[in-house]
Amino acid sequence: MTVHCLVVDDDAQVRHSLARVIQAHGLATLEASSGAEALAILEREGEIPLAISDIHMPEMDGVTFLRQALERYPDMAIVMLTGVAEVATAVECLKLGALDYISKPVLIDEVRARVDKALEKRELVLQNRFYQQHLESRVRDLDRRNKQSVINGVQMLVHALEAKDAYTSGHSTRVSRYAVKTAVHLGFTGDRLEHIRLGGELHDIGKIGTREDILNKPGPLTPDEFEHIKGHTALGERILAPSLGESPMVLRVVRSHHERIDGGGFPDGLVGQAIPQEARIVAVVDAFDAMTTNRAYRPSRTPGDAKDELQRCAGTHFDPEVVDAFVHAFPDVSILPSSI
Ligand SMILES: [Fe+2]
Repeated sequence: MTVHCLVVDDDAQVRHSLARVIQAHGLATLEASSGAEALAILEREGEIPLAISDIHMPEMDGVTFLRQALERYPDMAIVMLTGVAEVATAVECLKLGALDYISKPVLIDEVRARVDKALEKRELVLQNRFYQQHLESRVRDLDRRNKQSVINGVQMLVHALEAKDAYTSGHSTRVSRYAVKTAVHLGFTGDRLEHIRLGGELHDIGKIGTREDILNKPGPLTPDEFEHIKGHTALGERILAPSLGESPMVLRVVRSHHERIDGGGFPDGLVGQAIPQEARIVAVVDAFDAMTTNRAYRPSRTPGDAKDELQRCAGTHFDPEVVDAFVHAFPDVSILPSSI
């Protein structure tokens, strides 16, 4: 039998007559003569939607029952039964979570009306909770799908760039991995690490807009050609801004990965700490990977040479702290780029 209501009163006569009224109203009802007995019934039956409880009872009073019942079953609708002199206690009970109170002597019509109202309120609370939880999980789901579609779009761009420029094939992924490992050495965790990972992957995405004859030119670039190539930083930021507006640091990495700490870089000529640390990290590992892979305009250098070059340029081109972290993150650079 599903129990709908629990009547708690030490006065057997009041309890029986209340239970009869509620039964006749269509609700299966159990009776308890004290708070302790009522809790034992809840223990046995599980949550009961509604309880009507007297306040003054021996063994365990109505206030203690109210507290303990709501602690275990926060969604129970509990209505207090009060004498005329107990209005202050009844108000206290409302503050503790009772849904309503009925004054003694009890009128049958009033009991029916209060019982219906209490159950309606409870139903509303439950519906609201269900709606809210459902909504929250739906929002989470949408958020997850949005993020996934952004990542898919980003992957597409990376592949598009790699199809156009053979020398960047694998470069973005390696830069991303080197950058993450270096960032871990600098204490990065969580979202900051994710921004580094994505920023490394996307740093050169603006080269989609660079002319292929310049991108793959075997000889030195003219000043005009160099200016054209420099545009890939700001262009990359513009390409990604609509999708990655919520991750401004990724956009900063893309824009600022060619800045130098002495101010001699591009596109903004930022100096030192004005360059985000994330961009300073990508600058170091980007240079290392560029030096250790073949490019159209020159053959690769050994990893050891590349590391020496980074250390030589620490303090002018590169952030010395980042170079140091990179060297410690990869104590044996000779294994790069084959395995990291
Ligand atoms: Fe670049």
